[in-house]
This record gives sequence, structure tokens and C-alpha cells, in this order.
Amino acid sequence: MKEDSLIAKTVAYVRDYFVDEGTGHDWWHIYRVWQLAKLIARREEGDLFLIEMAALLHDLDDWKLSGSNSCRTGEWLSRLKVEGNTRRKILQIIEEVSFKGAEVNTTASFPEACIVQDADRLDAMGAIGIARTFSYGGSKKRLIYNPAIQPERHHSFSAYQKSTAPTINHFYEKLLLLKDRMNTETGKEIAMERHKFMEAYLEQFFLEWNVETKY
Ligand code: ADP
Ligand code: NI
Repeated sequence: MKEDSLIAKTVAYVRDYFVDEGTGHDWWHIYRVWQLAKLIARREEGDLFLIEMAALLHDLDDWKLSGSNSCRTGEWLSRLKVEGNTRRKILQIIEEVSFKGAEVNTTASFPEACIVQDADRLDAMGAIGIARTFSYGGSKKRLIYNPAIQPERHHSFSAYQKSTAPTINHFYEKLLLLKDRMNTETGKEIAMERHKFMEAYLEQFFLEWNVETKY
């Protein structure tokens, strides 16, 4: 099968799969990551087929959405007869994309993984990132904020996964760290703007929270 038609089939599959997802990981998240990945790839070296396939499939087996041991991605690639090195690389990109805790090393190890990781992380930042974060927090019944609970820097993926902290903490535990962990120049440029927006948002949030200091 030609690469274009493999991508088109994957788009249709993933769109169907994520259509009702209500935690900020819906089809439109996948779509934005796909578009961002293509945008970054225009200015970087990398195999576009691997990048697009990994961007489209990257959340299919995510622990936050599907529990631990699902293998939909591998099964889908088998159905498309994507095999050998291509299959291995797509799976490896997906494995390397995810954030796993502030103190856990998630350095992407090859150009295509760097690009997809930047694209996924950019969609965690800025106005959309804020919306997704509160959407996810709400879906897990988390508090918006509790001043008594300090943000943590997780040293292991399992500690990060176990966190039930209020949603504002996620900004300090992940979102504000992302701009310094971008791999590509384009990623860094877009991240800078989105980072500033999150800082402005938090400043206003705390101004409103500490209302007595203002009025
Ligand atoms: P990653 O694989 O790096 O986790 P995803 O595409 O799965 O990236 O999306 C992660 C997004 O899910 C976060 O940026 C945030 O919006 C939301 N999220 C994950 N964990 C939390 C949390 N503890 N509190 C609030 N939002 C969260
Ligand atoms: Ni994602």
C-alpha cells in the first residue's frame, strides 16, 4: 500500500477511535499534533511517513486513556502490514514521546522522535494546553487548586502516574518545564509564546485567588 493511503486509513481509524474522548485527548488533539509535527518537519530532517504515522497513533495506547497493557498501535500496524524497521521506529517514537515526570529523563533519541515529541508537548502548552489540563483534571475529579498541596518534582514515572494533585500543580510539575525541553528550533519558538501565555494566566489566577491583597 502506498504511504499516502496508509496515512489516510490511519486518520480514519484514529478519528473514529477518539471521537468521544472527553479528557483533552480527543481527535482534535491528535489532529493538532499531526499538523504541528508536519510544520516542524518542514524545517527539520526526518522521514515524514514515520513522523505522521507516529503523530497520528501516539495516544492510542497511552496509559492515561487505556490503562496499562493495550497494544492497539501494534495491531493497527499489523493490519496495514507496516513491518520491520518502519514498524519498530514508529513504535519507538511513540514510546519516547511521553512526559514521565519532572526528574525523569525523556530525551528523544532520533530526529523523528524529537519532532513528534515537540509537537505533542506544544499542544500541552498555551491556551489549548490550559483547556486540556482542566479538562483532564475534571475528568479525574481533581480539585482546581489547593494551596496546602505543593507541586512535586517526580523522580519516577510511577510516582508521576500515581499523582492525584490539584490541576494547578500540573503547571509546575510539567507544563512550565516544557519550553526548556524542546528539541527543535521551531518547537522552541512556538513554545516561548505559549509559555508566556501560561505565565500570564497563572499570574491572573493567583491575583484572583488572593483577592484580599489586591483590593
Ligand atoms: P504526554 O504523553 O506527554 O502525557 P498527552 O498527549 O498524553 O502527553 O497529554 C498530556 C496532557 O494531559 C497534559 O498536558 C495535560 O493537559 C493532561 N494531563 C495529564 N496529566 C495531568 C494531570 N495530573 N493534571 C492535569 N492534566 C493532566
Ligand atoms: Ni498526545
